[in-house]
Formats: sequence, structure tokens, C-alpha cells
Amino acid sequence: MSRTHSAGRHFLQIPGPTNVPERVLRALAAPTIDHRGPDFGRLAKEVLTGLRRIFQTNGPVVIYPSSGTGAWEASLVNTLSSGDTVLMFETGHFAVLWKGVAERLGLSVDFVPGDWRTGVDPAVVEARLAADGTHAIKAVCVVHNETSTGVASRIPLIRQAMDRARHPALLLADTISSLGSIDYRHDEWGVDVTIGCSQKGLMLPPGLGLNAISQKALAASREARLPRAYWNWGPMLEENQAGFFPYTPATNLFYALREALHLLEEEGLANVFARHDRHAEATRRAVQSWGLEIVCKNPAEYSSALTGVLMPAGCDADALRRIILERFDLSLGTGLGKLKGTAFRIGHLGDFNDLMLSGTLCGVEMGLAAARVPHRKGGVQVALEYLATAR
Ligand SMILES: Cc1ncc(COP(=O)(O)O)c(C=O)c1O
Repeated sequence: MSRTHSAGRHFLQIPGPTNVPERVLRALAAPTIDHRGPDFGRLAKEVLTGLRRIFQTNGPVVIYPSSGTGAWEASLVNTLSSGDTVLMFETGHFAVLWKGVAERLGLSVDFVPGDWRTGVDPAVVEARLAADGTHAIKAVCVVHNETSTGVASRIPLIRQAMDRARHPALLLADTISSLGSIDYRHDEWGVDVTIGCSQKGLMLPPGLGLNAISQKALAASREARLPRAYWNWGPMLEENQAGFFPYTPATNLFYALREALHLLEEEGLANVFARHDRHAEATRRAVQSWGLEIVCKNPAEYSSALTGVLMPAGCDADALRRIILERFDLSLGTGLGKLKGTAFRIGHLGDFNDLMLSGTLCGVEMGLAAARVPHRKGGVQVALEYLATAR
């Protein structure tokens, strides 16, 4: 049957870009304004302050008109010099991509191999730094929530490991798929640069790249020698004081960001995190009842933003995803890099509630049957029972 129109709502359950709430979409549609005028200045100052609360920092946050990759590049070019060593960890596809950015910028990457099923091991961080007597390592770079696997590394334990090693390296954390979904505290956890972007927990379309910056990172930026122009924090921070930018900001996304910040604050950040934790737990219960394996091996590292699911041997994850999209109009995340074909990802982050999760899990369970993937029925029921009882 060929269809040109699907009735009802599309289910967008990839782990970002996520569903954009109606209120945010309406805000986005406001008339474009003068980005050098007083109204924009007030708007920019309001969102710059609001973002600090989301990053849980009293320090500056900069906003680029960019995707997350730009915000990665910004974190590196502002703090490091050509030939500097950075310590990175192969937690999954996005860690590998970030390594590629670092190498292309002329940094020397000490890349700790990984199995794509576990997060960064704090003991390895401590051992690597303790062995670096000359302090050649200038930054430790960690992907907080590895979107390709659904594994969340434990940033506070990594910070403690760095402190135990008494090593002065900067700590750079990618929160692209955790910010606004999973508890994250830039100041309290002693992170120097936090990288974020708009299209995941912040519930916005793609288009904004974010850096939250510690005082130590600011000091490092004065010594750093990697070439930087577009990404330079200096002119940004200077102009931001009055609510302006050194080049044209993504003005309409600022309206949307203001509305998204209101939504997050109306719900309360602690409640936002608890909602994500609860949906993640319901999802894992469904997956385990189906008899399928979760990519993340260590329960202490389960991601509350998405769940990576391994296919039984001989079953193709993309064939399953294709059937689910065609029959039920539900988009699930593809397996990335090493997990292509062998895993799929259920996104449960952003503007999301119990019934959206229930519909998503129904789509997966019906798809497993339609694609003849060996599984036990009833995962949806188990998830519903959990949702009915867990507050
Ligand atoms: C953890 C993580 N880091 C970095 C990126 C790259 O961001 P972008 O595709 O917006 O450039 C992504 C994208 O999904 C991501 O999930």
C-alpha cells in the first residue's frame, strides 16, 4: 500500500531533534526584529540569564548560531593551543566525532578505547592523569550522555578522580543530549566548559550551540593560541553584556528559547529530571520484558534521555525501524557507527509524557511482531503497570 498522507500525529522518538512544544512553535513564529535594537537586547539578556539556571552556573554562557558540532569546536579553540594533548574516551559515535574535530584542529588526542556499552571509567581518568607528571594533558573531554548508546558517564566521579590526581587539566563536558533532561550542574561539579545545543532537552529546533564557561576556562582562553574567529568567546562576552552579538544571532530562536526556558521553569528542573528518569525506567522495563538487551551494561550509567536496544542476532535494526515508520508513522533512532544495523534507539526526552511513551512502546512492540523479531509479548503492559504506580 502506498500512502501519500498519514493521518494523525507523527511520533518523533529519535534522541534529538525532539518534539517542539506548541507554545515554543508559536513563539518562533513571531516577526523577526532588529538584532541591534532595544527589544532584542532585553530578550538576549533574559535568555542568557535563564540559560545559566539550566546549566546551573553563575558564570557566562555563550550562544552561537550553530549546531552542536560548532559548540564542540568552540570549546577547544578557545581553551587550547596547537599540539596540546587532550584526554578523550571512546564511549560511542559522538565521542569518536569529537575526537575527529580535535585532531583536525591540530590537537594530540590520547584516546582511551571503549566498548560502546560503558561510560568513562573514573579510575582510568585518575590513572592517566597521575601518570602525566609533566602535565602534558591540558583537557579531559567527556561526553556526558552518549547519544549513540544511551550511556551516561558520571561527571562528579570524573571530577573527583581529577582532583585525586591533583592534575590541572580543564574538564570539558558535552551535554548536548542531557541538558534539560538529566541532572547536570556545571558549577557544583567543577566543569570548565559545558557544551550544549538547542534541539534536544531544550525542546527547540536545531540552530543554537552553547558553551557554559568557568573562570578557569576564561583564564585559559587568554593564553590559548589555536586560531579562532567566529567561535571567539572574547567579542561574544563583551557584546553580550548589553545583550548584543558580534554577528547576526538566530533571532527567532531566541523567542523560542525564552518560551522553552519558561516551560522548564514552570515544571521545575527537579521535576523535569524526575519525569525523564521515570520514562527511562518504564522503557527499560518494556525492553527487558521483550527479552531484548539494553546497550548500556551498567545500571549506574543508564541514560534517562534515551534507551539503546540491541537486536537479537541475525535481525536488522534498520529493517525494524523501516517497518515501524511505514506502518505506525513512528521514527526511532538508527544505530550509529559500530552499532549500525545491530541497535536502535528510543528517544524519551524533551516534551514528552506518559501517553506519548505508551504510544511509542506500542509502536515498537507491534513493529517487533510485524518484522518477526523474536521477542516475548507484553513489554508494553509491564511499562504501563510501572507508569501507573511510580510517581
Ligand atoms: C552527544 C552529542 N554530541 C554532539 C552532537 C553533534 O551535534 P550536532 O549534530 O548538532 O552538530 C550530537 C548530535 O546528536 C550529540 O548527540
